[in-house]
Amino acid sequence: MTMRVVVDNGPGRKRKASTGRALKTAKPQIAIRPAVVADAPALHALIAAHLEEGKLLPRTLDELAVHAPRFVVAESGGTIVGCAELAPLSQTVAEVRSLVVSRGARRHGLGVQMVEDLAARARRDGFDRLCAFAHDPAFFVRRGFSIVPHTWVPEKIAHDCIACPLFRNCGQYAVALEVDRVNAASLRRSANAN
Ligand SMILES: CC(C)(COP(=O)(O)OP(=O)(O)OC[C@H]1O[C@@H](n2cnc3c(N)ncnc32)[C@H](O)[C@@H]1OP(=O)(O)O)[C@@H](O)C(=O)NCCC(=O)NCCS
Repeated sequence: MTMRVVVDNGPGRKRKASTGRALKTAKPQIAIRPAVVADAPALHALIAAHLEEGKLLPRTLDELAVHAPRFVVAESGGTIVGCAELAPLSQTVAEVRSLVVSRGARRHGLGVQMVEDLAARARRDGFDRLCAFAHDPAFFVRRGFSIVPHTWVPEKIAHDCIACPLFRNCGQYAVALEVDRVNAASLRRSANAN
C-alpha cells in the first residue's frame, strides 16, 4: 500500500520577503512505501542513529538487506526519514519492530501511518495479532494497543527473549492489538482522541 501525504510545516516555515509578502515555500511530499533491498543502508543508518533514544534493537546491515521487504518506510525528497518492520513471530502473531522517525520529521503522523500500513499488511497476510515491545508504550497505547503480560506473547519469548541476557528484566512493556478489530481509520481516531 502506498500513501502520499503532504506535511504541513505550519506558519513558522513561511518566510517574509522584503516587500512584506509571504514567500510560498514548497511543501515536502512524504511517501509511505514498502522498503526494498536497496534501502538497507538507509534503514541501517536511521536505526543506528536512534538506538539509544528509542532503546532499539541493534540491526546489522546484512539482516536488514534480508528483511528489507518486511519494512515500511517514510521517504521525503529521496531521504528515508522513518521506518518500521512487520516481523512474523508465528503464523498468527507479528511484531512491529524498529519503529523510528527522524527527529525533524516527527509529530506529522508518520509513525501512526507506518503502524497503520503494517496493521493493514498484517491483516492482509492473515495475522490475528500485532504486538510490540517498548520501554515507553504510550505511543502504542494511544493507538489502541493494550499493555499485556509478556507471557501473553509466548512467540516472542520463544523467538527472542529466551536467548536474551535481560530476559525477565528488560524493562520493556509488551503491547498487543487484535488485527481484526482495527482498521486504519480507527488507529487514526485513537491518535486524534488523545
Ligand atoms: C515514536 C515515534 C516513532 C513516533 O513518530 P512520529 O512520526 O512522531 O509519530 P506521529 O507523528 O504519528 O505521532 C506522534 C505524536 O504526534 C501527534 N501528531 C501527529 N500528527 C501531528 C500533527 N500534524 N501536529 C501535531 N502533532 C501531531 C500524534 O497524535 C502523536 O501524539 P501522541 O502519541 O502523544 O498521541 C518517534 O517519536 C520516534 O522515532 N522515537 C524514537 C524511537 C522510538 O522510541 N521508537 C519506538 C520504539 S518502540
